[in-house]
Amino acid sequence: MALTDFIKKYRKNKRVLFTTPSHGQGNFIVPECKKYLGSKFYSCDYSEIEEMDNLSNPTGILKAIQDSAAYIYDAKDAFFLTNGATSGIIAAMYSVLCRGDKVLIARNCHKSIYNGLVLTGAVPVWILPQYNREWGIYESINIDYLEETLSRNRDIKAFIMTNPTYEGAMSDIYRISSVCKKYSVFLIVDEAHGALWNFHKAIGTPALVQGADIVVQSLHKTAGALNPSSILLVNKDCKIPRERFQEALNLITTTSPSYPLLLNIDATINYLDSDKGWQKLVELTKNVNRFIRAVKNIPNLQVYQYNNDITKILIKVTNMSGFELSDILFSKYDIEDECANEKSVLFLTGLGTDKVKLKKLEKALNSLCSEYIKITDEKREYKEFYNTEPRVRYTPNAVWGRKYKELEVKYSMSRVCMELICDYPPGIPVIIPGEVIKKEHIEYLEGKKATVKVLL
Ligand SMILES: Cc1ncc(COP(=O)(O)O)c(C=O)c1O
Repeated sequence: MALTDFIKKYRKNKRVLFTTPSHGQGNFIVPECKKYLGSKFYSCDYSEIEEMDNLSNPTGILKAIQDSAAYIYDAKDAFFLTNGATSGIIAAMYSVLCRGDKVLIARNCHKSIYNGLVLTGAVPVWILPQYNREWGIYESINIDYLEETLSRNRDIKAFIMTNPTYEGAMSDIYRISSVCKKYSVFLIVDEAHGALWNFHKAIGTPALVQGADIVVQSLHKTAGALNPSSILLVNKDCKIPRERFQEALNLITTTSPSYPLLLNIDATINYLDSDKGWQKLVELTKNVNRFIRAVKNIPNLQVYQYNNDITKILIKVTNMSGFELSDILFSKYDIEDECANEKSVLFLTGLGTDKVKLKKLEKALNSLCSEYIKITDEKREYKEFYNTEPRVRYTPNAVWGRKYKELEVKYSMSRVCMELICDYPPGIPVIIPGEVIKKEHIEYLEGKKATVKVLL
C-alpha cells in the first residue's frame, strides 16, 4: 500500500493525539506557513505514533514502502532518506568502513564524502578521473588506472565514485565493478544525479544493474521530488546485512523524519514506475533532444555530447567563459543555470522541464550568440583549477578539531590546510583538511580569498 493511501485510511479512525508534532496535523498552523504550504502538507505530518511505524526500526508501513521500492529498483534493500543523498553517502561509508580502513575515492566527489571521512576515520587514497580541459569538467574513470591503483594498494576496502558526474558524464560501471570484485573492494556509487535512470534506460544505465554494491540517489535533483528526498539502494549480491545500514543511518539521521517527505519519496517512485511516469520521461527526453538539435545549429555554440546523460545540458560559446555566458543569461534574459565553470554552463533538466522553458532558453541562446559574441571575440585565458594528485599529510579525521591559524594565501605554500575549500555548486573539493597546500592551490585561491586556515 502507498503511504498516501495508508495515511488516508489512518485519518478515518479520528484518534485524539497528544504527541509530536504539536501542530496536530494542522489543528493549528502559523498563518504565514498555511499561506505558503497549505493545510494538506500539515495534515500528513506525523511522528512515530502507533500504526505509523518508525523509520529507525521499520516493521510496518515504512518497511512495506521501502520493500516495495527495493522490488522496483531490483535491490536487496532500499532506505528512504529525508536528509538527502549526503546522509546516504555517509551511511554507506559507515556501513563498510572502520577507523583506519583505506578507501579509494574519485577526486570529483561531492563534499559529503569528506564528512564521511571525518566521521569514520577512514584513510583516503585518491584517484583522479579524466579531466576535459575543453569543457572544464571531470569525465570518466580510466579502468587501467583504477586497476593499477587497486593492485598497488591491496588493502583498499571500498571505492567511492560519482556517476554520472555533476555535468552528466558517465563511466563504465560494468568494468569498474568487475575490477572492484577482482580485488574484493566494495563499490559505492554516488548516483545523486542519475535518479531517472532506473525508469528510462535510454537516459543512463543504473549502477546497481551494472554491479555496484551500494548506490545513493537524490530524487530531488532530476526526478521531481521535494528537497532533500533521496534513497540508498543495496545490491542483491552485497553481503552487508540490512541491520548494518540501518544502524549507520540511525547514527546520523534525525529521529523525527518528515512524513510529508517520506510520502513524497514513495509517491515519486511509484509515479516514475507507472505508465504515466514512463510517458513523462519519454516526453522529457524528446523535448531535450529537440532542444539540443535546435541549439547545435547556432553559430559559435557547442553542446557537450560524449557519453553523457542528456538531461544535463552542457553548453559553451566561442570566446566566452562559462561565467560570462552565465552572467549574460542571468542579467539580460532572466535565466539561471545550475552551474558554470571557466569553459561551459550546465543547465539541469528534469520532470519540471517543459517545452516552454526549453524554448525560452533556445531563444535566449540564439539572441545572445548573435549580439554578444562580437563583444568578446578575443581569445581569453581563464583561471581554472583541476586537481593534481593531492598530498595527504593527515587524514581529515586526524586533523578535525586541531588548532589552526589564518595565513595570507600567498604565504601558505606547503602548509597543511585546515579548511574544506570548494566552490558550491558543484561541491567538489579543491583541497581538504590534512592536505598540503601546493602552488596550484595558491594560484587558484589568490583573488578568491585573502587568507586560508593552516595547521599550527
Ligand atoms: C554528486 C553529488 N553527490 C551528492 C550530493 C548531495 O546530495 P543532497 O543534496 O541530496 O544531500 C550532491 C549535491 O549537490 C551532488 O552533486
